[in-house]
Amino acid sequence: MSRSAHPAGPRHADVLPEGHYTAPADDLNALDPKVWAHTVGRDTDGVVTVGGIAVTQLAEDYGTPAYILDEADFRDRARAWRTAFGTDADVFYAGKAFLSRAVVRWLDEEGLNLDVCSGGELATALSAGMPAERIAFHGNNKSPEEIERAVRAGVGRIVLDSFQEIVRVAHTAESLGKRQRVQIRVTVGVEAHTHEFIATAHEDQKFGIPLADGQAAEAVRRALQLDGLDVIGIHSHIGSQIFDMSGFEVAAHRVVGLLKDVRDEHGVELAEIDLGGGLGIAYTSDDDPREPHEIAKALSEIVTRECEGARLRTPRISVEPGRAIVGPTAFTLYEVGTVKPLEGLRTYVSVDGGMSDNIRTALYDAEYSVALASRTSDAEPMLVRVVGKHCESGDIVVKDAFLPGDLAPGDLIAVPATGAYCRSMASNYNHAMRPPVVAVRDGAARVIVRRETEEDLLRLDVG
Ligand code: LLP
Repeated sequence: MSRSAHPAGPRHADVLPEGHYTAPADDLNALDPKVWAHTVGRDTDGVVTVGGIAVTQLAEDYGTPAYILDEADFRDRARAWRTAFGTDADVFYAGKAFLSRAVVRWLDEEGLNLDVCSGGELATALSAGMPAERIAFHGNNKSPEEIERAVRAGVGRIVLDSFQEIVRVAHTAESLGKRQRVQIRVTVGVEAHTHEFIATAHEDQKFGIPLADGQAAEAVRRALQLDGLDVIGIHSHIGSQIFDMSGFEVAAHRVVGLLKDVRDEHGVELAEIDLGGGLGIAYTSDDDPREPHEIAKALSEIVTRECEGARLRTPRISVEPGRAIVGPTAFTLYEVGTVKPLEGLRTYVSVDGGMSDNIRTALYDAEYSVALASRTSDAEPMLVRVVGKHCESGDIVVKDAFLPGDLAPGDLIAVPATGAYCRSMASNYNHAMRPPVVAVRDGAARVIVRRETEEDLLRLDVG
């Protein structure tokens, strides 16, 4: 990323503080299509619109803060992944990024499969009618109840994450008179270039079974012996918000190495490999994500080449994008409450949400962009930090960005690319009520997840 500590262009303060921020865009009113959902624009009054509806209208109808999701964009991106991977591969949307019943129905209609990682996600998927055979069930510590529910429902695959789980799933399937299709999740020892907390393929961590010391081969050996299991393949997920394809290349190389060892030892060619999710999106104009068709082409070439080298039949590939589908499709709409200039430092802009609706900045040092949404302005750019209303100084939504210098309480601002891991990681900290998700399409808006109320909070409090 190209960052400048001393950005060029007009300045609000004479001395800009130390920091790493992008220079203000030439036109602060412009909305970079890289970070905004497809149908976002401005109307003739300068108000940001999505799906043909002005954000001022959305704020009036649904309140703020609110996640505003562009349904057409979600469907476009889901379809682009589906089309890019064609009929020889499967796309499983990772529900942890954001899941609701409407989303499940859109995925079903667009022909995608679904990856779930908890009983709650499984229940959501099944209740919205996703066929069980199109569901993959994940997790490093699935409870006996979750396993039983998944096997009974007939999920298409359970991804086994430990030696204990191999036995648990086999036992559950056998006792139900079933044979469960499973993949074995391995850690391939790749250092993905992303935040430590979202990297998942290096060996010193909780997910998967290491390839390195023969443990993964031993896991396959044991699983193949169990009647309750139908071992269909190997799974690898190297991390999240990754731009560099080389990690996937190493992962594919090592997974294919295991397939070869399995063939040599057992005479069995496992039919599938899942390369997980993790493809990055643009949070700021500095990020340059790849298109699904480029990713599909790269992954399929890598796997084909590796398999030819190992004289293996090319297995069916599957992938599990979450963020890359839903991330860019939503923005969070906030109302500005206070504007506090700190001379020589920056201006703190407090909004009516915060770390309870977007924990990613505090947790991963994530970068976001922001725009004045309820009007345009030709005022000088000022360096701002967008903060929430929580009792914590780390309650930051956008660490460093530029907004027009005439920003005032009552203005609406929007933070793009909050579709993934914002609502799904939202909390009730300070008894905040989690914002609604409003889906907009073709001039119509509807709530797909409603705003929490004080009643919701008090209903849980039974003491
Ligand atoms: N498959 C598996 C097995 C995963 O663990 C994940 C994400 C995905 C697929 C989807 O990854 P994606 O395509 O969305 O990057 N809360 C963090 C991200 C955690 C990702 C966890 N696993 C964040 O906000 O950045």
